[in-house]
Amino acid sequence: MSTPSAEFALNPLDVLRERFAGAISRLYAGTPGEGQDPLIAASKNPKFGDYQCNAAMALGKLVGKPPREVAEALLKAVEIGDIAEPLTGANIAGPGFINITLRADALATLLSRLDTADLGLPAPAKRERVVVDLCGVNLAKQMHVGHLRSTVIGDTIARALSRAGAEVIRQNHVGDWGLPIAMVIAALIREHGTGDPAKYLHELDQLDRAYKRAQAECKGHDELVEAVRHCGSPKLAAEWEDELKQATAAEAKLADAKRTLMALQNREPTELAVWKRIYAVTMAECLRVAAELSADVRDEHSAGESSYAEELGPVVDELLRRGVAEESQGAVVVRVEGIAEPCLIRKSDGAFLYATTDVCAIRRRVQKLGAARVVYCVDARQSLHFRQVFGAAERAGYTALPGGEKATLMHAAFGTILGEDGRPFKTRTGENVRLTALLQEAEERALAAALSRNPDLEPAEQKKVAHAVAVAAIRYTDLSTERIKDYVFSFDRMLAFEGNTGPYLLYALVRVRSIFRKAAERGVDAVKESGAALRIGEPAEKALALALLRYPQTVRDVAQTCEPHRLCAYLYELAGAFAVFFDQCPVLAAKDEGTRAARLSLCRLTERVLADGLGVLGIPLVDRM
Ligand code: ARG
Repeated sequence: MSTPSAEFALNPLDVLRERFAGAISRLYAGTPGEGQDPLIAASKNPKFGDYQCNAAMALGKLVGKPPREVAEALLKAVEIGDIAEPLTGANIAGPGFINITLRADALATLLSRLDTADLGLPAPAKRERVVVDLCGVNLAKQMHVGHLRSTVIGDTIARALSRAGAEVIRQNHVGDWGLPIAMVIAALIREHGTGDPAKYLHELDQLDRAYKRAQAECKGHDELVEAVRHCGSPKLAAEWEDELKQATAAEAKLADAKRTLMALQNREPTELAVWKRIYAVTMAECLRVAAELSADVRDEHSAGESSYAEELGPVVDELLRRGVAEESQGAVVVRVEGIAEPCLIRKSDGAFLYATTDVCAIRRRVQKLGAARVVYCVDARQSLHFRQVFGAAERAGYTALPGGEKATLMHAAFGTILGEDGRPFKTRTGENVRLTALLQEAEERALAAALSRNPDLEPAEQKKVAHAVAVAAIRYTDLSTERIKDYVFSFDRMLAFEGNTGPYLLYALVRVRSIFRKAAERGVDAVKESGAALRIGEPAEKALALALLRYPQTVRDVAQTCEPHRLCAYLYELAGAFAVFFDQCPVLAAKDEGTRAARLSLCRLTERVLADGLGVLGIPLVDRM
């Protein structure tokens, strides 16, 4: 049986692997040789052809036959005539290596299969449904660099999944419920009264400040203050008068916040109105920033913690009843095999937790939304949380799809963005760096860089180019390092037009596009010519063709592994192969019209693959820069 990826293989290596695997299963079905890896490799020495199949030796041992005999059988059984020169005994070398030489037209044949509307990524017969958990902002707080990664990585994984044929449901698990929000609501009502919050609450900055104030106000009774309070010594109490007063005030504020949370839970109109206003103000800003980053995070993707509020109590009760959860020192926990700390789903004071909501979210995503896979694009520091929650949901039976199959849950964890000092990225005053400020600075620098290269950039285009370059720089830096690793944020590095950067890739696209513009200027009908048959001869053409043919499998790999850096590395190689081709193979100045037309075809395919790949990375495209 062929795997879906093999069905559409275009890279000669994958095609050969697939065809030899087919031959092996036909020849050795029901023997220990069945399913053996065909061990295809690119030849190190062109004397031995382009590729080798090295499976005969291991197979010979397994099926008890001389390897050369196995090699003979393989080359008779394998069907590769469409892309390789016919195989004869002369292709067997040494103990049983099979040397394979591609047909001269093989690459053109394979490229024509890539050159379809879907670029080698046809919609699968059955589309897998995948939930991607991304963004995850919190109410009343400015979006900072921590949300950048979740938004950009999540958006890219979602795009790669869709491109590979999955049906993607994006979920923005907004932190919009619980005591911290209640603290802000309580503080706002204390400060502004119970009137219409739309009258005094206009922007996220106000909320950000209110959030910090509310947090500070509710803090204040540490252990020492408690000890002084309870020791009964008037002398100590006098010395600690201020602290004790503050603690009492903080307690009152905290009590107010708890009361507010109850009111919110009971949908009291005053508290609910403030909550709604906070929600609207935060989300307007959050969705605006996401759009600026070209991340597809919209209102309909929001499924905040509040949307699970009604489910928390019943779920905990159900899990207790079924014996999945148990009481532990007044709290309720679900023990998970292999993890020392159990998953806490109800505190001893009756409050529910972040984890309770996430257990409910898994139930909804798998059993209601029907997701066969759920991918969480969340900071690596939450890895214990997800192991606990995944384990608890599994024990609860919430990972079973309506049809009975099990959904796969994956924490697509990412590392921290560091400043140039190697510590978590902060402003000089130690504040979190805001995404809006970051984007603005990137655009200013991008414009300066673009203008220094191309002073003639038309004013009308400047804004568009600056934005595209800035987004390319920020997104590509974030996506091109292995997701789990930390990386250092550096404007200078990410905005460079040379090297492994977003602007460099964008520039590669602009270069291909400029060929078509120049063709038009010279009266060459590039559209017609670029429909000409592909013809691959020169080494640089061959290298470019081989790079192009790897595209579909690269996208499928990203969708499977949720590792966008694979696509970045691929596009960087493709851009490099194109640069060499561009340097060595004149296109418009080719020696004859046939060559020009064939090279224009190759350029057009390169343009399509680059544009498609940059699209998966969420990088806005431009024609010039
Ligand atoms: N709001 C959370 C935070 O800022 C992220 C939410 C991630 N998603 C989830 N299902 N827990 O840390």
